[in-house]
Amino acid sequence: MSLFITFEGIEGCGKTTQLGMLDDYLQQKGRRVMITREPGGTKLGERVRDILLNTDGMNISSWAELFLYATCRAQLVKEVIKPALEGDNIVICDRFYDSSVAYQGYGRGLDLEPLIAINRCVTGGIIPDITFILDCPPEAGLKRAWGRINAGGEVREDRFERETIEFHRAVREGYLEIARREPERVKVIDGNREIGEVHKEISDIVEKIVGSL
Ligand code: TMP
Repeated sequence: MSLFITFEGIEGCGKTTQLGMLDDYLQQKGRRVMITREPGGTKLGERVRDILLNTDGMNISSWAELFLYATCRAQLVKEVIKPALEGDNIVICDRFYDSSVAYQGYGRGLDLEPLIAINRCVTGGIIPDITFILDCPPEAGLKRAWGRINAGGEVREDRFERETIEFHRAVREGYLEIARREPERVKVIDGNREIGEVHKEISDIVEKIVGSL
């Protein structure tokens, strides 16, 4: 029995916290869980993540950005996600191809058709069984994200936090559009609530799916 779950959302939406809580919940139930993230999760992916997210004045064009994310994804699918799913694990990934659709497609304005075709190539057709979009207003998300960055150590992953509020609004709209197109797979969760309440909604949905496998 394998299951592929992804978490998505704008900066500071709380997805990483919720992913950790779902991991704990499933492990307590005795499930084999594998956690990974994008960009990253492999040696190549973590190096490319550094190029993508640290601000050091380097200019990256939108298509170059898309291909760098696609590079990470290709490696992660081959090295981590596919083998883990074949080994009957529950795989939970912090972001996956919907991030490229929302950020590079709706945020940067890249043409969706080739972008989605590239996603399909690098994932080998792997589609998450369930995707949670943690939805929250960009103002609230960015406030949380900047609080975390300013409290953090030396690594500043703030390239996207520096984008305009309009950019983040477009990304959020992109996510909501993805959910409208694929309501079976993609669940929009109101992330602007108490953490435990959000976790309960997510774990109830996962419980139903796991119970039916
Ligand atoms: P995170 O680890 O905090 O989620 O940061 C990853 C950043 O990368 C986040 O700002 C969203 C961005 N991103 C894209 O723009 N496109 C993608 O395909 C992925 C996976 C992430």
